[in-house]
Amino acid sequence: MLPHYINFSKIGSPSLGYISVAENLENIPFEVQRVYWTYFTPQDVTRGGHAHLALEQVIVAVSGTITFMTEDLEGNRTEFVLDSPEKGLYIPKHIWRDIKFSHNAVLLCLASEKYTEADYIREYDNFLKLKDEH
Ligand code: TYD
Repeated sequence: MLPHYINFSKIGSPSLGYISVAENLENIPFEVQRVYWTYFTPQDVTRGGHAHLALEQVIVAVSGTITFMTEDLEGNRTEFVLDSPEKGLYIPKHIWRDIKFSHNAVLLCLASEKYTEADYIREYDNFLKLKDEH
């Protein structure tokens, strides 16, 4: 599978506000094992710069705008702009990503595995080597 947007339901109205919902194995294509969020990332900083061996993620910009530049093992590069809390981004394993944030951005991540540093590919050259193995 490739990275793709997920459209969450948007329950409510302009006068009441909205609720969006994520459910295991429903609109989230895996069982969530971990949730984390990032915030106060300066606008001039690029985060990410890694891929994962097994981890799958769904990312939501619950506030602000977050831009993902992704690259898959075929070398396809795609830009995804998360600019609404009803929009998610599914990222399968084996995807290199660089991430930029607006000053007010809060990134919420639903993750398929608990944290382990052993799941990270932090050297781009090692990501390219993964290509040869597949
Ligand atoms: P990292 O995933 O590299 O952040 P980003 O992709 O946003 O640049 O994580 C940054 C640091 O936080 C790294 O030292 C690992 C640590 N960390 C945890 O301890 N647990 C976690 O669940 C996550 C996501 C990160």
